Amino acid sequence: MKFLKLFLLLFIVQTQAQQGGMWVPSLLKGMNESEMKNLGMKISAEDIYSVNKSSLKDAVPQFNGGCTSEVISPKGLILTNHHCGFDAIQNQSSVEKDYLTNGFWAYNMKEELPNKDLEVTFIVSINDVTKEILEGVNALTLETEKQKKIQENISKLNLSFKKEAWQENRIRSFFEGNQYILFVIESFKDVRLVGAPPSSIGKFGSDTDNWVWPRHTGDFSLFRIYADKNNRPAEYSEDNVPYTPKHFLPISLDGIKENDFTMVLGFPGRTQEYLPSFAVAQIQNELNPAKIEIRDAALKVQDGFMRKDNAIKIQYASKYAGVANYWKKWIGETMGLKKSNAVAKKQKEEVIFKENVAKAGKQNEYGTLLSDFEKNYVDIKDYALARDYFTEVFLRNTELLSTAYKIYQLEQVFNAKGEQAFNDRKNNLLSSLKDFYKDFNPTVDEKVFEKLVDLYVKKSPKQFLANDLININATSLSSDIYKNSKLVTYDQLTNLLTGDAKSVIANLNNDKGYLFVKQAADQYLKQVLPKFDEINLKNASLQRTYMKAQLELNKKARIFPDANSTLRVTYGKVKGYEPKDATLYMTTTYLDGVMEKYVPGDYEFDVPKKLVDLYNAKDYGSYGENGKMPVCFIGTNHTTGGNSGSPAIDAKGNLIGLNFDRVWEGTMSDINYDPAICRNIMVDARYVLFIIDKFAGAKNLIDEMKLVHPKKK
Ligand code: ARG
Ligand code: ASP
Repeated sequence: MKFLKLFLLLFIVQTQAQQGGMWVPSLLKGMNESEMKNLGMKISAEDIYSVNKSSLKDAVPQFNGGCTSEVISPKGLILTNHHCGFDAIQNQSSVEKDYLTNGFWAYNMKEELPNKDLEVTFIVSINDVTKEILEGVNALTLETEKQKKIQENISKLNLSFKKEAWQENRIRSFFEGNQYILFVIESFKDVRLVGAPPSSIGKFGSDTDNWVWPRHTGDFSLFRIYADKNNRPAEYSEDNVPYTPKHFLPISLDGIKENDFTMVLGFPGRTQEYLPSFAVAQIQNELNPAKIEIRDAALKVQDGFMRKDNAIKIQYASKYAGVANYWKKWIGETMGLKKSNAVAKKQKEEVIFKENVAKAGKQNEYGTLLSDFEKNYVDIKDYALARDYFTEVFLRNTELLSTAYKIYQLEQVFNAKGEQAFNDRKNNLLSSLKDFYKDFNPTVDEKVFEKLVDLYVKKSPKQFLANDLININATSLSSDIYKNSKLVTYDQLTNLLTGDAKSVIANLNNDKGYLFVKQAADQYLKQVLPKFDEINLKNASLQRTYMKAQLELNKKARIFPDANSTLRVTYGKVKGYEPKDATLYMTTTYLDGVMEKYVPGDYEFDVPKKLVDLYNAKDYGSYGENGKMPVCFIGTNHTTGGNSGSPAIDAKGNLIGLNFDRVWEGTMSDINYDPAICRNIMVDARYVLFIIDKFAGAKNLIDEMKLVHPKKK
């Protein structure tokens, strides 16, 4: 009987531990630590985050704001994704030195390449400052006043909280403003490119394979952090020296098998796990489908041109990938929300929530929350839809329109701040647009305009359209604008912007392309955005109360704060899944799968000759496993955008892989994590080592790492 109880308890702990969550590293003691140990972790919470000694967090800097990286040598060598280092690699490339196509390897430190505007940020300490930030806030009634007071408290504490001269304080809101945490951070600005495989390895499978399992991408690149002589952050200088980290990750050569413990440390960007059912239904049924339809149209046009014309393919490859990434994610997310019955699941939780409110006698405080939400989401629907249409059509996917919008803002700068501000902004704009026009193809964009403006006038909520636009014919409008507007080439645009502010503005207001955007933008900024912001603020305030109520009434639940680009720990197991009826996906892919996908000369599925040779010779060194070379694997770690480049770590604190994506069926994990189908995708660390060592011959890099055999010890 006793054993049965123990068994049941263990079973419950084990299954609960599969439920996802992104946890604050300083708060793991207790529930998380025991779950992690039950899953097989051999180290302690103190080994992950400690204020007194070096710990895992000291090896995991944020990479340039949007990604994660990890230190893998005592000389400041860091590993991140190829797609995270992409811009740096592209900026270092030229026609003669095409590092994107051919890869780049520094065979000694002198060959490492400095990068402008690239930084990595370490977390020095994590401090709960909720009391200080919320001081005096509850006494206020208006939401706008509360927000103002919070901002004041943040500014004050930012200045007074103790830190070293080269460090910074950064305060972030958790649980929708129910908790505030201050991070002391250190940013290093001299970060040099050390290695990158050719895109045919680092981006193998490209957009076709993006978000999909099984995957065969060696999505990694290497950089090195440089510091001043005191090992502190410094701007680039020849005198800088390789950074000595407080901790670096040893790399395991033993590999992984199904059910092994894994954890991922990193900087997840944004999730919305606690939305009410009304919001989830709106995303699933209204907003995602609208955005998908718009991008679908834009991508079809671009793809058509790219397939016919190689020059256009080069011009549009990176833009296309950018637009396609979230297009594909939203499709997966919408399918996953439906498949996991997310709305019904939320509705059930809401019934229980209401019962709990009643049981706790908290009707006064929380009794109207859900009906208020319901009303607000009805009220906001058309505004939210109109906002998405405007954003997707005008700001994101039609290049001429987004350029015109920037110029529209220029006119507004003049109206608000006068001639000097206008000129400053104008000069900035002209220099930034110069690069843009190099890759701008008016023939492609004219077709995109035609399709997207047609969707805009036919499908965005009619009541907010300017009168002149309601019956517009998108085809004749686009041919008129691309024939006559001066926004079509950089030279004409420069001419248009030459002269004093008044005459520039007069000329702009004679340009058909400009006028079209101005009309739509005026309408949007007057009729849509203010009201959207107003209701949205109400929802944010409700969401904060809803969160507070859940924390209060549901003390035993595993409630974690939504992602907010701060350092988190997520953990789980190496595990396959069942994407659809009678289909089982396994945990690991091998180089054999790369060869199965190989299409010689294809821009997505080509394979470098050297890799084919290594495969044929089975020359895998100590990195292979039973004569096969592992490439990628999946696990139940709960990750999101921003986790790219995050280390996957084994039970003993060694690196086993590098996170870079999620499986398509599970991309709804940002809204509704479902342990049955949500999986993160990682490159196997042994594949990374194999490429560095056997493919690139960069033994110098292998020599500075610490390779271990944790299982054989
Ligand atoms: N889907 C991954 C993420 O959201 C990878 C994106 C880069 N790769 C690509 N083929 N576009 O960032
Ligand atoms: N690919 C994403 C990133 O770049 C990770 C994800 O969304 O799973 O951060």
